[in-house]
Amino acid sequence: MKHLVIVDDEPVILQILNAVFEDGPYRVTTCATGVQAEQVMRGEGVDLLLTDKNLPDISGMELLRIAKELNELAEVIIVTGYASLETALSALELDAFDYVLKPLNNVFEIKKKVERAAEKQDIRAENRRLVESLKLKNSELEIALAEARKLQQELIQSEKLAGIGTLAAGIAHEVSSPLFGIMGLAEAIGEEDDLALCHEYSGEIVEYSRNIRDIVVELSSYSRASSSEYLTTVELAKTVDDAIRLVERSADCSGVTITAEVAPETFLQARTSEVQQIFVNLVKNGIEAVGDHQDPGEGWVRVSAGSDDDHVWGRVEDNGGGIPADKLSMVFDPFYTTKDPGKGTGLGLNIVYRIVTKYQGTISVESLEGSGTRFLMKFPRGDA
Ligand SMILES: Nc1ncnc2c1ncn2[C@@H]1O[C@H](COP(=O)(O)OP(=O)(O)OP(=O)(O)O)[C@@H](O)[C@H]1O
Ligand SMILES: [Mg+2]
Repeated sequence: MKHLVIVDDEPVILQILNAVFEDGPYRVTTCATGVQAEQVMRGEGVDLLLTDKNLPDISGMELLRIAKELNELAEVIIVTGYASLETALSALELDAFDYVLKPLNNVFEIKKKVERAAEKQDIRAENRRLVESLKLKNSELEIALAEARKLQQELIQSEKLAGIGTLAAGIAHEVSSPLFGIMGLAEAIGEEDDLALCHEYSGEIVEYSRNIRDIVVELSSYSRASSSEYLTTVELAKTVDDAIRLVERSADCSGVTITAEVAPETFLQARTSEVQQIFVNLVKNGIEAVGDHQDPGEGWVRVSAGSDDDHVWGRVEDNGGGIPADKLSMVFDPFYTTKDPGKGTGLGLNIVYRIVTKYQGTISVESLEGSGTRFLMKFPRGDA
């Protein structure tokens, strides 16, 4: 309930005003002096102040100031005997809500003015509450925004790290085949007496070392668009043979028959080492699929390639365990592997996919569980 403080040094007026507000919605305190009014306001608080302007002790204007100081939302109505504009203005200047002229001819008009002051107070209180809650919401939003920005930064950072991780893993993956080849050849040279054979092996070591260099350069500049000046005319028959030889040097192919049937004069405009990587990965997968599924001597991996009017195509098929139909769509995803930890990283086919699409090619896979798998690639025919 709002506290209405009424101040006037004329007892009759105080009596009249008390009678007007007695049964109203306010708790009413009447004061005959300014000092008493100040005491009441300081002790009990004040919401509405209806005060005579000219009190013998503390002026009505001073009481107004005190009321506003005690309660920012307090509304004050000044009662004055002088109908001067000056009085009215100075009251309003001091932020009084309104003023009333003596003699009090129309007490209902006063009642109305106090009611309006009370309404204004309610509206101001509500506005203030809304502003406070908006401020709170705003600061909550600011916190949420800062949090979101921080998360975004972290995400960008972790995506970058993941990208670097995939790149590093990809390089390690692709380098391992020629590296194993080099190790095998180096060991063979140590035990070989035939100088001509040693020369041949050392030539191969140089070739594999170049492969490694190319792989590192190509994979680390993967995101850059390949410039045609780096492309050469790759002869598939030779590159497929080289790839198979590299797989045989670097992996256990015992008991698996690997054959290649490439039409003569099948060419691709590409980088030799990348085309070789495609076939190394596909043939290795074939050998691994066959090894787990077929008896020794029964497994085979066949590579074939050729061209028609529009396309150069390549195919790698095996009679291994196959891929379940519901997993076919996942095999090109990075890090998808069904192999034991340490045996497979799940990067082989992803690298194949990236190289094939880099040359505007497509790759598809067909597989029958228990019977085998076939990968088919198609490239648009270049000028070569
Ligand atoms: N010829 C295939 N026959 C059966 N399953 C295959 C064949 N090729 C790929 N897959 C399946 O696809 C998965 C992904 O192959 P991918 O070459 O990308 O990785 P990986 O061989 O498992 O490991 P990594 O190549 O990194 O050593 C394999 O784990 C295997 O489940
Ligand atoms: Mg693989």
